[in-house]
Amino acid sequence: MPSLVWSTKALPKLQQPTELTLQAVIYPQGIGYPEAQPESALYLGDNLSIMAALLEQFEGRLDLIYADPPFFTNRQYAARIGRGEDSRRPAEWQLAEGYADHWDSLDAYLEFLYPRLILMHRLLAPHGTLYLHLDWHANSYARILLDEIFGRKNFVNEIIWVYHGPSAIRRAFNRKHDTILMYTKGPDYLFNTDAVRQAYDPSTIKTFASSPRAGFGKVPDLARGKVPEDWWYFPVVARLHRERTGYPTQKPEALLERILLASSSPGGWVADFFCGSGTFPLVAARHGRRFLAGDASWRAVHTTRRRLVEAGVRPFALYASRAMYASGESPSLTYDYLPGEKRVFLHPPLPELDYWEVDPAWDGRLFRSVAQAWRPWRSPQIPTELTLPVEATNIRLQAVPVRDAS
Ligand SMILES: C[S@@+](CC[C@H](N)C(=O)[O-])C[C@H]1O[C@@H](n2cnc3c(N)ncnc32)[C@H](O)[C@@H]1O
Repeated sequence: MPSLVWSTKALPKLQQPTELTLQAVIYPQGIGYPEAQPESALYLGDNLSIMAALLEQFEGRLDLIYADPPFFTNRQYAARIGRGEDSRRPAEWQLAEGYADHWDSLDAYLEFLYPRLILMHRLLAPHGTLYLHLDWHANSYARILLDEIFGRKNFVNEIIWVYHGPSAIRRAFNRKHDTILMYTKGPDYLFNTDAVRQAYDPSTIKTFASSPRAGFGKVPDLARGKVPEDWWYFPVVARLHRERTGYPTQKPEALLERILLASSSPGGWVADFFCGSGTFPLVAARHGRRFLAGDASWRAVHTTRRRLVEAGVRPFALYASRAMYASGESPSLTYDYLPGEKRVFLHPPLPELDYWEVDPAWDGRLFRSVAQAWRPWRSPQIPTELTLPVEATNIRLQAVPVRDAS
């Protein structure tokens, strides 16, 4: 079988698993506290060593992996922060590091992708599916790599996600689609056809109503809806979009929801090891899936945590090899607590705070976040008061400023 070769290609040695350090258990808005054990998990760090560490517990167990890595664009993507989440040209101080998509060569990029795809293959269950999201920069190379790792016969779809958007292009057609390569671990894969059916176009319904033989003898079940084509239109998360977090290259919830519903089951395990702003774990948690999510960027993991907290999902664990709160010392926080009323007041509020949370029974080791306050998107104001679900015995506060040097 033809295969892809590059200058440094070798069968990757298994990366040393990283030590997964539990930083906190988060009970979004107190949900599940104190009985519920967190099942889902969010990881800060390079996904190569994280996936290697997860093999022991999860090899052959995941229903679905959605992977949205850097696309080989050779660009630097900034995040918009503070009140500037939806601005087109935010003031300098409203920009922060997002992530880099810089490579010395195509070889270097393939060297990055190859061992990670191999680990994803190992983590998938026998009925599991990978969706690899890329665009014209690297998708043709990745397709050949996936043929090699998953087997050509396990290719299922090349999904084209089409969208609109402004562009300065003048000497080519405007590039407005991404490619999502879908491969399964084996032939008996999970695919929930009925969960992703779509209503037929009104004109199709009308045609069949007037001429039942319009489909060359095949009459579609108009009430049940159709199986979607392999090209999908969803609007991008644009400025002023209600989902917008300011994290770069954020994907629309509706797009990832279709993938999730098609290829996983309620209660099953799904993963996204390039989670960025956290769109996939958010959609997964909303639909009752257990997730493993991670990113190498501090801001990505913080944004994901904040979105999950706001959505009020089931408790999840946060693993990180560095502090998730602020670089260096945590900002010193003072507060008042009203015992009978279980209320905590942040005092005095820090300027430009993005997030703060409280453990009401701090044991000196593991932070249990039980009440959280977050700055609403596009707003300078964060609540300075929180109500705890239980009487506090030993309060500890942690906070994240808008501009953490991460
Ligand atoms: C295209 S973005 C993901 C966007 C995401 N799907 C969303 O909806 O917001 C790619 C992400 O991969 C992350 N990343 C790049 N290299 C990584 C690595 N080695 N380990 C973990 N994450 C990595 C970047 O920090 C970035 O957030």
